[in-house]
Amino acid sequence: MNVIGTGLSGLVGSRVVELLSPAFSFEDLSLDTGVDITKVDIVVPRIESSTAAWVLHFAAKTDVDGAEHERELGAQSSSWIVNVKATEYIVAACKRSGKRLLYVSTDYVFDGTKDVYTEEDTPNPQGWYAVTKYEGEKRVAELEDKSLIIRIANPYRAQFATKPDFVAKIREKLAAGERILSPSDQVFVPTFIDDIAQAIRTLIEQNASGVYHVVGSAALSPFAAAKAVARTFGLDQSLVTPAPFTSYFAGRAPRPFRAALKNDKITKFGVRMATLDEGLKEIKRQLSLRAERE
Ligand SMILES: NC(=O)c1ccc[n+]([C@@H]2O[C@H](COP(=O)([O-])OP(=O)(O)OC[C@H]3O[C@@H](n4cnc5c(N)ncnc54)[C@H](OP(=O)(O)O)[C@@H]3O)[C@@H](O)[C@H]2O)c1
Repeated sequence: MNVIGTGLSGLVGSRVVELLSPAFSFEDLSLDTGVDITKVDIVVPRIESSTAAWVLHFAAKTDVDGAEHERELGAQSSSWIVNVKATEYIVAACKRSGKRLLYVSTDYVFDGTKDVYTEEDTPNPQGWYAVTKYEGEKRVAELEDKSLIIRIANPYRAQFATKPDFVAKIREKLAAGERILSPSDQVFVPTFIDDIAQAIRTLIEQNASGVYHVVGSAALSPFAAAKAVARTFGLDQSLVTPAPFTSYFAGRAPRPFRAALKNDKITKFGVRMATLDEGLKEIKRQLSLRAERE
């Protein structure tokens, strides 16, 4: 199947391409292929003239703390221009050419005050990055039954040098013998990117629409997660030090305190979403296979 993709060089998009090719053939709309998605005259004709039935929109400005510094710029901020304005252009092109649109969103659209969040819960984004991602969601929802929004959280994979994920950062610090502070009262649902790829494949094959929480199957604290990383990779767990959420993130962009998203809706489609322990075990297996080959 031929699909159009934005953000395919990123942490999540590049792994999705690795896992879904060659079943899916990706038309890459990126700065490298001459497409800046914020340029309406460039992005719209590229989408409208394609024969692909689906657009997979991964591209975003993803620097959460960086976005906060430009909040006062509002619609002139680069996060708004990429996450909202460019999404508007993509939606308009999809509308005119009858394409389906998959948009990748975030657990940060929730304010983190509830114990668990389902797809029925109303977002209340706090940080500027989260505001722009939720505005993007609203634009995509205008496509009605041709809109598909997947919310992911703290995605991780075996290896991606360009932008290390949280697991890679923890591994690197612990391997260097550095002590790490980690919130012990916060809750999140880290998501194995390989599972996101399978979820996307399934949702596309079913021509699904609506909102899906495509997240890991275990909610835990970042402190417990860091301990799990240390345990799995034989690193020193005693270097992982608990810290309160409020002091850990002081002076940084607001984030949800409790972002325990439920994933029943996607797992009912038969997609298995790993717990962090399961994902880490699989990463270890993939890394040792790679090491054997080299
Ligand atoms: N990473 C997370 O923790 C996380 C958590 C929840 C949700 N998400 C969402 O998941 C999606 C993928 O995130 P990610 O971490 O994989 O992103 P990423 O690694 O930061 O990559 C961002 C991608 O967007 C592209 N891009 C940015 N501006 C562009 C423009 N003007 N024109 C064309 N392409 C542009 C980048 O292209 P270049 O490489 O050419 O710059 C890159 O491919 C995003 O929508 C993000 O909001 C991420």
